[in-house]
Amino acid sequence: MTNTLEWTGSSLKLIDQTVLPLKERIIECRSYEDVADAIKTMKVRGAPAIGVTAAYGMVLGAMGIETADASAFMQRLNYIADVIKSTRPTAVNLFWAVDKILTVAQQASKTSSVEIIKEAMQREADQMAKDDIEANKAMGEFGQVLLNDGDSVLTHCNAGALATVGYGTALGVIRAAVAHGKKISVYADETRPFLQGARLTAWELARDGIDVTVIADNMAGYLMRNGKIDKVIVGADRIAVNGDTANKIGTYSVAVLAHHHQIPFYVAAPVSTIDKTLPDGSYIPIEQRDPKEMIYVNGVQIMPDDVKVINPAFDVTPHDYISAIITEKGILYPPYNIMNIDA
Ligand code: MRU
Repeated sequence: MTNTLEWTGSSLKLIDQTVLPLKERIIECRSYEDVADAIKTMKVRGAPAIGVTAAYGMVLGAMGIETADASAFMQRLNYIADVIKSTRPTAVNLFWAVDKILTVAQQASKTSSVEIIKEAMQREADQMAKDDIEANKAMGEFGQVLLNDGDSVLTHCNAGALATVGYGTALGVIRAAVAHGKKISVYADETRPFLQGARLTAWELARDGIDVTVIADNMAGYLMRNGKIDKVIVGADRIAVNGDTANKIGTYSVAVLAHHHQIPFYVAAPVSTIDKTLPDGSYIPIEQRDPKEMIYVNGVQIMPDDVKVINPAFDVTPHDYISAIITEKGILYPPYNIMNIDA
């Protein structure tokens, strides 16, 4: 299985997702600043992977605090939490993970020494990493019943092992269906501008021997109209209480097409991706990234100088286009009211 991240006890190793599939380069984060930079520059990306990486960023930040005074320690830790939280705004797993680690530290700080607080934080981050893989496997088992032998499944972006600690959410469901002996063919949208589909989804599915065909983002309608897509399955960065779902830019267009062609459209995500504070998707903050990601492909400028460019990294798919949401606790069907699920 792909090792998206690996905690060594004193550093966090990440597979650099900016250079895949041409290079398999491992980078080593030794400080919370290194972690914040890796998240911001998308060396690590995908909501669950960002969350666990951020948790280890907190551990690295804690290791670098040299005080024996618990309240001074907590003050500094809160600052580090703010820095890590400022890296990317949309994936709620980032905030969920940092807050979970902060809560563990706060609890421990009431009775314990700084050394014990640091140990408790590391245990929590290790547990999150372990839980992530288990959640993905559970999601896979629940979700695979929705896929039939012989299905062609369209996915957008990368919601695979690389976007999680391992196994994947949307791709985890596909992996589980294949493990159950079903023949599944995957169409992967290339996913401009960062090309997560062409570079990452194609790389990890090909490594697993799962049939994958890369298409440009504007080819999905053609395929659907010609009866080539049976199901769509994508991941999520943040799900509001009514089921509205933020995911990689272009997901909304795919959902509209699927709705028009009456093709089931599934979202697979752990409950840590649900934001119970947001009643609907209009409140989800959408990250606007550097236009350079649009202007250059592999360092080569592809448009005239001085044209206007926008680069929103996510869009929101309204809940009425989502046939089901697959979580590690089970499959949710409309009408969605996700207040009751344990997150
Ligand atoms: O900008 P990215 O690559 O972090 O966006 C990733 C996605 O949109 C994924 O589909 C989502 O995080 C789910 S990953 C299991």
